[in-house]
Amino acid sequence: MEVVVQQGNVVDITADALVVNLFSGVTRPGGATGALDKALGGAIQELVQQGDFDGKLGKTVVLYPRGAIPARRVIVVGLGEQDKFDLEAVRKAAAAAAKRAREVGAKDIATIVHGAGVGGLRPAEAAQAVVEGTLLALYRFPKYQPAQDTAQEAGLRRLTLVEFSEEKVPLLQEGARAGQLIAESVNFARNLVMEPPNIATPAELARRAQAMAEEVGLRCEVLTDPELESLGMGILLGVAQGSVHRPHFVVLEHNGGGDDVPTVVLVGKGITFDTGGINLKRGEDMWKMKHDMAGAAAVLGALRAAALLNVPLRVVGLAPFVENMPGGKAYRPSDVLRGLTGKTVEIINTDAEGRLILADALGYAARFRPDAVVDIATLTGAQMIALGPHAAALFSNDDGLAARLEEAGRRTGERVWRLPLWDEYKEALKSDVAEVKNTGGRYSGLPTTAKFLEHFTEGYAWAHLDVASMVWTDSPRDYHPKGPTGYGVRLFVELLRQWAE
Ligand code: BES
Ligand code: MN
Ligand code: ZN
Repeated sequence: MEVVVQQGNVVDITADALVVNLFSGVTRPGGATGALDKALGGAIQELVQQGDFDGKLGKTVVLYPRGAIPARRVIVVGLGEQDKFDLEAVRKAAAAAAKRAREVGAKDIATIVHGAGVGGLRPAEAAQAVVEGTLLALYRFPKYQPAQDTAQEAGLRRLTLVEFSEEKVPLLQEGARAGQLIAESVNFARNLVMEPPNIATPAELARRAQAMAEEVGLRCEVLTDPELESLGMGILLGVAQGSVHRPHFVVLEHNGGGDDVPTVVLVGKGITFDTGGINLKRGEDMWKMKHDMAGAAAVLGALRAAALLNVPLRVVGLAPFVENMPGGKAYRPSDVLRGLTGKTVEIINTDAEGRLILADALGYAARFRPDAVVDIATLTGAQMIALGPHAAALFSNDDGLAARLEEAGRRTGERVWRLPLWDEYKEALKSDVAEVKNTGGRYSGLPTTAKFLEHFTEGYAWAHLDVASMVWTDSPRDYHPKGPTGYGVRLFVELLRQWAE
């Protein structure tokens, strides 16, 4: 979709649909909505007076100007209560308006930037949020359903942000550009997750990463069996053993500054399909395990955005792609594996495979002499039980890094919630034959997993995000259609941009 910023008055704008807004409790609209109301002979005021529209966040109503202005339709969207208004509300309002515009068949929508006027938000950030909310809400994956990809559904072609104040225009342009690059990177990640696991094999995902890297100007290296063996990644190779699809370990690097800029390494779990291995999963929900590479997809998306925004940092993305399958060659419970750091692991359960491939990836991360390492992984059902679809679990050995992630979570709406890394959780992982075992039993499954990973993080500030509940939604909500959410891309991009400031 084309995104543009235009200086002008809403009453002069030509579009299939023109979006304006209203806070709840407002009976006399001001600003752009007020000007439009006047041009429409008080139609918006009447909506409120009749009790037909209460300005609740995300509520929409369509009006037909019948020639009073050049725009063919007006969509009024509610912004909710003014004292609860924030960037997340902007994204939600923009999403609601965009979906309504698509429903009525609009191809070309113009919108005011929610919050850039009376809302009191920074104009660039508000514009970014409007574009994000719009592009994220309209995401679709029609690849394998060409017949359903009708012209109507194909949706919007152009989004115009309309601003009266000339001096705000450059700020809005900057924000809109960032919003577009970021949202497209989220959708890039969503596409990788949506792609079925027979297509999105480790080799194919490595090819996609390579193609993307070439397109946006990232260094890209792909490690396969010979390199993984000579590096000594015996834990990752153990998990990979059962699959005919050989592991592909993607290393991406963005260099946005001189030699002395900080280095941030992002590591994502890339299990292309998790059957559970010999500890085979139950049938019902297994199909969802195509999303077990959503952490890696988020890392690729974040690196894509980091390159396009040219963030002045060195950013490394590690995405180990591995399939977890049962079979004659598969690793088994009670195997002992030795990985890159030299530590030995006793396998108790082959379904606890994510932490195993991360163990070697976290070991590998050390060679970049990072200022921070953040991993993102769909690791445990326990995380879903603990927090539901409302926050990722955050663990960190560094308060500063944890605080940065918490702040990025607040600003993006990609919430994180910190949990403890107490040494007491180590007990459960003691093995009789190896240095550590890969599961800690029934209790505290969430923190013991983080504790397992900690064994492989030597000498750097580290944070772990368990995002099992965050990467997929079974029903559409706000700016997430049903399916992959792309969680993590915006969180990471915000982390990096704040770091660079
Ligand atoms: N990929 C799963 C976790 C998961 C479950 C993610 C549901 C998203 C939705 C992970 O590899 C796994 O199987 N975890 C096990 C660990 C257990 C065997 C210790 C779990 O949480 O049940
Ligand atoms: Mn598993
Ligand atoms: Zn898994």
